[in-house]
Amino acid sequence: MSLPLPGPGELAIEPLFPVALGRVQLAPDPIDTALQIQAIHRLRGEATSNPDPGCAWTGDLNGVWQLQQHPDFAPLIATLVAHAEAYLQQLGFDRSRLALHIQRCWPVLSEAGQVVGRHHHPNAHLSAIYYLNGDGTGRSGCLRLWPHRQINELVPGMAVGHDGPLALSPWTAPWVDVAPQAGLLLLFPSCLDHAVLPNEDPDDLRCSLSIDFALSAPAAAAEATPPEYLAPHPSQWQEL
Ligand SMILES: [Fe+2]
Repeated sequence: MSLPLPGPGELAIEPLFPVALGRVQLAPDPIDTALQIQAIHRLRGEATSNPDPGCAWTGDLNGVWQLQQHPDFAPLIATLVAHAEAYLQQLGFDRSRLALHIQRCWPVLSEAGQVVGRHHHPNAHLSAIYYLNGDGTGRSGCLRLWPHRQINELVPGMAVGHDGPLALSPWTAPWVDVAPQAGLLLLFPSCLDHAVLPNEDPDDLRCSLSIDFALSAPAAAAEATPPEYLAPHPSQWQEL
């Protein structure tokens, strides 16, 4: 006689390998924010796009890529850096054994109808976005983040396929959208693909800052060897 199978148990699905999206809602002084938006307008000058009229104006392509040195932005950016430090700490990094660098810091202005196409930042390690405006509805253009690989859909393409036999679920979401909100800071790995959806609010110029951070080893003392898995400190590189 065969023995009965053990009693039924509920299926449990565990989330493995989560992507670390850092979120911090800051409460900036509205006067500071208004001055910063005015300053970005001045920095943009006559340009309104990149230069394709459908593409948002981004400072990194237009000579405005070191905003951390601008007096209207330096205090804000110092605060954002402190949150980037906390993000690294939560991921488990030993801050005393690495150097954190701002590689670029630039504004993005998105007029009605403009977008930023899907891309990632291959030269950086950690990226940040800070929203100077936005009401949380997403009307001015959500940030869309894509997973590196979509392995839970099992059949490649199923999660975005038309009429596919796969209902929406958090396990197979093809992307995640984040709505701009004034004072919101996001932090995420620079290798993550992302885009900005069209600004559908004709009355709201979408305004944000981006920061690319790079990690290196701290400057090595004389005769010391930098650790293998980090680039040596840039001050110890040799330009040829
Ligand atoms: Fe980007």
